[in-house]
Amino acid sequence: MRGFEGEVAVVTGGGSGIGRAIAAELVRAGARVAVADIDAGAAERAGRELGAEAFQVDVSSAASVQALAAGVADRLGPAAVLVNNAGVASAAPLERMTDADWDWILGVNLYGTIHGVAAFLPQLRQTRGRILNTGSMAGLSPDAGMGGYGTTKFAVTAYTEVLAEELAADGIAVTLLAPGPVRTALGSSSRNRGGGADRGLVDVDLAAGDGAGLRWITAEEVAAVALDALRDGRRYAITHPDWAPVVHARHRAIEAAFADALAHEQGSRSTEQESRSTEQGPDASVGSDADTDTDQGTTR
Ligand SMILES: NC(=O)c1ccc[n+]([C@@H]2O[C@H](COP(=O)([O-])OP(=O)(O)OC[C@H]3O[C@@H](n4cnc5c(N)ncnc54)[C@H](O)[C@@H]3O)[C@@H](O)[C@H]2O)c1
Repeated sequence: MRGFEGEVAVVTGGGSGIGRAIAAELVRAGARVAVADIDAGAAERAGRELGAEAFQVDVSSAASVQALAAGVADRLGPAAVLVNNAGVASAAPLERMTDADWDWILGVNLYGTIHGVAAFLPQLRQTRGRILNTGSMAGLSPDAGMGGYGTTKFAVTAYTEVLAEELAADGIAVTLLAPGPVRTALGSSSRNRGGGADRGLVDVDLAAGDGAGLRWITAEEVAAVALDALRDGRRYAITHPDWAPVVHARHRAIEAAFADALAHEQGSRSTEQESRSTEQGPDASVGSDADTDTDQGTTR
């Protein structure tokens, strides 16, 4: 277990919701925190209220995240905790999503994570730091109607799992935070999206409709789980144990497909054997030997 006292921590998307709550918890734990957000006003407010340094960043731009890394090193020193948390979630059936939609949602959710790691890894190597990537339950089991979001979050899951393996030897722990429903401003994600009318994605009131029956927790509850996982260097941080059946159901469907494939292979093997032994019955086998012999030009 490792605390945060005196460590420099960077939280993207720190101006609102889960990021802001994680930043607050890190400040409480004694870290010197950089709150980075595309919404400069939100970052500044959070910085002022939490006692953190505010930075403006667009995580979908590699250059912007590189500038953030340089600014953090300058103002606070090398980062020891990186929280890649900035994210957006609007909804549409996959066939309605435009290229501009994909660029935006992949740009923030997936490239934002990739850019964060690329820019801060040199500092994290210096400090033997830690990384937490905010994925989602939608990155363990995707939802219809939010396929674009699920696609980005599955990618974050894969990226995080592989990164954890690859950085383990350097002593850098990597955690995937996979929250279920959390009350934040995520339902108005397009507020941070640039212009361009070519879009199928629309904001949805995530807590209404089908979401009304879900268990919504607070960003503070998520932050507590995130910090515990970071302290212990755990691979996964789960906030909604009640979603286990949903994830298990997906895994069971995949396992069933493997079992089917095995049965199919074994079935075709035994059919092959049966047909071979029918063909090669006592008489057939003599015949086949005789044929082989004939083929091989041997004489009897
Ligand atoms: N709220 C949920 O139910 C829920 C569930 C699972 C995962 N998550 C994930 O949690 C993370 C935080 O979301 P939230 O729920 O706190 O939403 P939120 O909208 O309250 O906070 C997201 C923050 O990211 C910032 N942001 C957006 N685009 C950015 C960009 N290009 N560069 C930098 N910052 C940008 C926003 O300005 C905002 O401050 C996201 O990755 C989201 O996918 C949320």
